[in-house]
Amino acid sequence: MRSAARSLLPVVLAAISLLTPVAATNYDLVKEYAGSTFFDGWTFYDHFDNLTNGDAVFVSASVAKSAKLAFVDPATNHAIIKVDNTSTVPFNEKRNTVRITTNDRYGLGSVWVADMLHIPYGCSVWPAWWSQSPDWPVGGEIDTLEGVNLVTHNQMGLHTESGCQVVNPVQLASSIQTSTDCSNLTNHNQGCLVTDGNTASYGQGFAAAGGGVWVTELASSGISIWFFPRANIPSALTSNTKAIDTSTLGTPTGNWPSTGCSMDKFFSPHNLIFDITLCGDFAGNPAIFNQTCTGVCYNDYVLGNGSNYATAYFEVASVRVYSSNGTNNIIKGGSSSGSGSPGAANSNGTQTGGNGAVAMQRSMMAMLLALALGAIARLFA
Ligand SMILES: *[C@@H]1O[C@H](CO)[C@@H](O)[C@H](O)[C@H]1NC(C)=O
Ligand SMILES: *[C@@H]1O[C@H](CO)[C@@H](O)[C@H](O)[C@H]1NC(C)=O
Ligand SMILES: *[C@@H]1O[C@H](CO)[C@@H](O)[C@H](O)[C@H]1NC(C)=O
Ligand SMILES: *[C@@H]1O[C@H](CO)[C@@H](O)[C@H](O)[C@H]1NC(C)=O
Ligand SMILES: *[C@@H]1O[C@H](CO)[C@@H](O)[C@H](O)[C@H]1NC(C)=O
Ligand SMILES: *[C@@H]1O[C@H](CO)[C@@H](O)[C@H](O)[C@H]1NC(C)=O
Ligand SMILES: *[C@@H]1O[C@H](CO)[C@@H](O)[C@H](O)[C@H]1NC(C)=O
Repeated sequence: MRSAARSLLPVVLAAISLLTPVAATNYDLVKEYAGSTFFDGWTFYDHFDNLTNGDAVFVSASVAKSAKLAFVDPATNHAIIKVDNTSTVPFNEKRNTVRITTNDRYGLGSVWVADMLHIPYGCSVWPAWWSQSPDWPVGGEIDTLEGVNLVTHNQMGLHTESGCQVVNPVQLASSIQTSTDCSNLTNHNQGCLVTDGNTASYGQGFAAAGGGVWVTELASSGISIWFFPRANIPSALTSNTKAIDTSTLGTPTGNWPSTGCSMDKFFSPHNLIFDITLCGDFAGNPAIFNQTCTGVCYNDYVLGNGSNYATAYFEVASVRVYSSNGTNNIIKGGSSSGSGSPGAANSNGTQTGGNGAVAMQRSMMAMLLALALGAIARLFA
C-alpha cells in the first residue's frame, strides 16, 4: 500500500501543476505605445489597399509624417491616425490614409488595452482596430473595433480556419450575437460577430462620450473583449497601469470561449493593427452603403476636396500590452519598411487566462478534483 501511495504521488503532483495556471487572470505590462514614442515599433503599409479593395493608399511612414496623417499632437500627447482631408482627389485616383502594424507579435496569454478619444467615422469610412497572424487564416484574426459609414454600434468578431465555433459565450445581455461560425469559408468570411449594444461604442456617440477603452484578452480559455465608455472605465484599469487582472473587469462585451474553439489550435501570435480604408469590400458594398448613407461611395465622398473626412481620424491616448508570462508570449519583429512579416518562430505562447465565469467553472473543476484527490488519499491512509 505504501509503495502504491508513493507511486501515485507524481500523478497527484501533475494534477496539481495542471491546476496552477487556472487562476491566472493576472497580466503584467510588457509594452506601451504612448506619447512622443507612440509610433516607434509599427510598420506603415506603404501600398494602396490591395487587401480589401478600398479606394485608399496606405502611405509610408515618411509621407504619413510629412502630410501629418500620423503624428503625436503636442497639445495632448495623443497619437492621431487619419485620412487625408486636405487634398483634392481627381477621378481614378485614391485618397491617402494609414495602415500600421506592430512589429512585435503577441501570443496566447496576452491582453491589449487601447484608450481612444476618437475613432474615424463618416460615409465611405471603414476603420478597424484589430489583430491577426501573418499566416491568416491560420493563426486567426480578432476584430476588436470595426464599423463602416454611419453605423452607430461597434462590431467585434473572429475569423479563423474551419472548426472554430462560438459555444456558450458569457457576455453582456445587451450584446447581439450576429453569427457563430468563425470559419473564413462560411458566408464569405463573415466571421463570428458580436454587435455592441451601446451607441457609445462607435462614431459620434463614441466621441460624445469622451471615447473609451477596449480590452482584448487572448487566452487559452478563450477570447474576450470589454468596451468601457470614458465614464465607466473601471479603476482596475486606471489605478495600476503596470498590471491587469481581467477577472475584475466584469462580464465582457464579447466572448469566444475555448469550448467551441481551441485557442491553441486556431490562434498564434498576432500583430496589432490600426487601419482606415475607404469604400472597398465592406463600406463600399452598395447594399451596406445605402443602409446609412446616400449616393455613390467613391464618386460622392472619396473624390473632391476631402471635406467629408474631418471626422475620419483615430485619437489614441495609449495602447498597452500585458502578458501572463513575461516576454515569452512576444515574438519580436524587425522594423522593416515593407508590409512587415516578422521573423518566423513556432512558439505561439501558452499561458492561460479567462473571464470570471470561465474561472469559476474552472475553480469548480479544481474543487471536484480536490475532492477526488482527498478520496484517493483516504484510500491510502
Ligand atoms: C499587396 O502589395 C504588397 C506590396 O507590393 C505585396 O507585398 C502583397 O503581396 C500584396 N498583397 C496582395 C494580397 O496582393
Ligand atoms: C479561406 O482560407 C483558405 C485557406 O485556409 C483560403 O484558401 C481561402 O481562399 C479563404 N477564403 C476566404 C473567403 O477568405
Ligand atoms: C500552438 O502551439 C501548440 C503547442 O505547441 C500547437 O499544438 C498548436 O498547433 C499551435 N497553434 C498554432 C496556431 O500555431
Ligand atoms: C440598397 O441597395 C440594395 C442592393 O443594391 C437594394 O436592393 C436596396 O433596395 C437598397 N436600399 C435602399 C434603401 O436604397
Ligand atoms: C469642398 O467640397 C464640398 C462639396 O463639393 C463643398 O461643399 C465645399 O464648399 C468645398 N470646400 C472647399 C473649402 O472648397
Ligand atoms: C481636417 O480634419 C481635421 C481633423 O482631423 C479637422 O480639424 C480639420 O478642420 C479638417 N480640415 C478640413 C479642411 O476640413
Ligand atoms: C512561460 O515561458 C517559458 C519560456 O518560454 C515556458 O518554458 C513556460 O512553459 C511558460 N509558462 C507558461 C505557464 O506558459
